[in-house]
Amino acid sequence: MALGPAPSDDDRRRRSWQCLPGGRRSVLSVDEVSKTYFLEGVEVRALCDVSMDICEGQMVSIMGPSGSGKSTLMHIIGLLDRPTSGIVSIEGEEVGELSQNELAALRNKHIGFVFQSFNLLARTGAQANVELPLLYAGVGGAERARRSREALERVELGDRMRHTPSQLSGGQQQRVAIARALVTNPSIVLADEPTGNLDSRSGVEVMAMLQELNDQGITVVVVTHDANVARHSQRIVELRDGVIVRDEAVEDRVIAAEELAQLGMNTASGVRGVVGDEGEVT
Ligand SMILES: Nc1ncnc2c1ncn2[C@@H]1O[C@H](COP(=O)(O)OP(=O)(O)O)[C@@H](O)[C@H]1O
Ligand SMILES: [Mg+2]
Repeated sequence: MALGPAPSDDDRRRRSWQCLPGGRRSVLSVDEVSKTYFLEGVEVRALCDVSMDICEGQMVSIMGPSGSGKSTLMHIIGLLDRPTSGIVSIEGEEVGELSQNELAALRNKHIGFVFQSFNLLARTGAQANVELPLLYAGVGGAERARRSREALERVELGDRMRHTPSQLSGGQQQRVAIARALVTNPSIVLADEPTGNLDSRSGVEVMAMLQELNDQGITVVVVTHDANVARHSQRIVELRDGVIVRDEAVEDRVIAAEELAQLGMNTASGVRGVVGDEGEVT
């Protein structure tokens, strides 16, 4: 392929993901994004000229070892942080000129977040935790109660509305966090190491839930250092030292519902077999 010496628009295109067939829209994009941190006189280039598009309805894993820039990239595409240079767009809109308040409004409208450590309020019941984003958005009490109940039912925790985090397992806490991410009806869910604090079985349950949301049309971005977790997505983008070193479709995608079936569990009906620590049915 003949390329001129200077990077052309075509060149950029090639480096970014070819969107799924059928002309699906790019919902999140970063173009030549860099992020440099300065800490006690030391400069860390966490991201160097990263360009990628995430298409509507895609499930993408951002993979890479610790320190490769995954969380930095997620914070930037999630509009939680700004790049040092480069362009960030959500739903086709460039966000560089927006104020903090405008960014927050866009974030609340489009994006739900799930974090490794769940980030639930400790002495607060599941339903009240899920209601929080609606409270911030000024939604009235009756509607908050209805929507938070629906969100908890969606993650199969309709029977745990008043349980506080300490009264729930890790997997259940993460499902409350997923309900909290969903309650605002986002089109995008960003999950940073969502299975990082979970045993393998609860991790598969969380991935099943994220795949189910994706099947329902939500764009899902999973940040993980774990190749097995990443293979639940349709596409893996791999970072090393702040640079994309791989961006490809997953050939042998893992379907978490099938893994659960193999483990003798069925989250939908609540039927569970006895499963050993390593995930084998005992
Ligand atoms: N707030 C910060 N201040 C200074 N350096 C940071 C900050 N956040 C991240 N870094 C550095 O940026 C690099 C990428 O970090 P991060 O995006 O958290 O990686 P990952 O999520 O892949 O583990 C690391 O070298 C990290 O030490
Ligand atoms: Mg990280």
